[in-house]
Amino acid sequence: MNYDVIIIGGGVIGCSIAHYLSERGASVAVVERHTLGAEASGAAAGLLGVQAEWTMYDSLFQAARKSRSMFPALSVKLRDKTGIDIGYQSSGIYRIACNEETAQQLRESVLWQQNLGEQAVIMTGEQLRDKEPAISPFVHEAVYYPEDGHVIAHELTRAFAYSAAASGATIYEETEVLEIERSGNTITGVVTSRGRISCAQVVVAAGSWSTPFLHMQHVGTYPVKGEVLSVTSYKSILSVPIFEEGFYIVPKRGGRYIIGATVTEGVYDKTVTMGGIQSLMQKAVAILPALQEAKWERAWAGLRPQSKAGAPYMGRHPEIEGLYMCTGHYRNGILLSPLAGRYMADLLEGKSVREEGFVCY
Ligand code: FAD
Ligand code: GLY
Repeated sequence: MNYDVIIIGGGVIGCSIAHYLSERGASVAVVERHTLGAEASGAAAGLLGVQAEWTMYDSLFQAARKSRSMFPALSVKLRDKTGIDIGYQSSGIYRIACNEETAQQLRESVLWQQNLGEQAVIMTGEQLRDKEPAISPFVHEAVYYPEDGHVIAHELTRAFAYSAAASGATIYEETEVLEIERSGNTITGVVTSRGRISCAQVVVAAGSWSTPFLHMQHVGTYPVKGEVLSVTSYKSILSVPIFEEGFYIVPKRGGRYIIGATVTEGVYDKTVTMGGIQSLMQKAVAILPALQEAKWERAWAGLRPQSKAGAPYMGRHPEIEGLYMCTGHYRNGILLSPLAGRYMADLLEGKSVREEGFVCY
């Protein structure tokens, strides 16, 4: 077997790169040690929270905006090509404040975002409750970001992979990459749990497990565990996601509500804890008391891939010919996946590209 490009990792990032590259005619294989979206990409809430998640400006904000703007056309394209509906909702997101101090900080973030041309509407608690009557008086103020939205993260990952396959890519599941093979300083292939595969280029998109493949000192990823739960309700409780620092409730199709998420740095275990779920439930019920009547569905945990640099690594290895990396998208990999995939496809095609906010080599 021989491919132009082998991508290590069948998460949203690896599958997005495969989608864009194979659409351009490259021969591509995605090698995933479990199943597609088995890790962070299957655990995510799917928020496209550019404005809701960025209260302070940094250079990644521009990339996040650009990536968010790709979703309307992408959702149609993926549905037409694969039949998979990624559940794209352009409903906006409410960022809520439960006290005056947080409300003040929110108003400040509205200023810089509006100066950059973004829409943001400040609402009193009463104005919010006019739109979303189930929200309790615990919520003091909110900002509505109409351009934000959400998708179903696992479906987005699958749709990217199926689209890549429709354009000729090969998807290897239950196949672990053990080693990247090279001759001197040039990539020649990968050694997997099912044998060797040849290629000229390798992209490391292995999320929290990327470090051993990057072959660079001080460059790597580490896990930040997040616990999440979901409930269902016949009655509509909320129509638009609500977000607060470290907490969110996301209404999904079919009466599901995803409630997340805890943050625990540096652990590779995905245990769901009583304490984690209890803290989420307490907060959720304080904000939306009607959730007490909702039916328990399930709870899970995922590992967000954080980069040691604090920003995603996207680029080519400075010394090893043919080795590329695209990892460390931490809390926003679903949001950033279209831009990341397109950017890497450009780079692998030999184009000279740069994107603000990414650590590029
Ligand atoms: P992963 O999805 O972790 O994929 C990496 C893949 O590589 C895995 O499937 C793994 O099995 C595979 N792999 C590893 N080693 C090997 C090997 N040796 N051989 C073969 N395969 C290998 N982002 C948002 O934008 N919006 C959100 O609302 C959001 N919510 C989140 C909520 C939670 C609870 C969590 C945990 C994350 C959330 N994120 C969110 C972040 C987002 O999920 C991640 O940034 C994104 O999924 C990272 O994608 P990835 O492909 O880099 O990593
Ligand atoms: N972006 C949501 C999360 O990481 O939990």
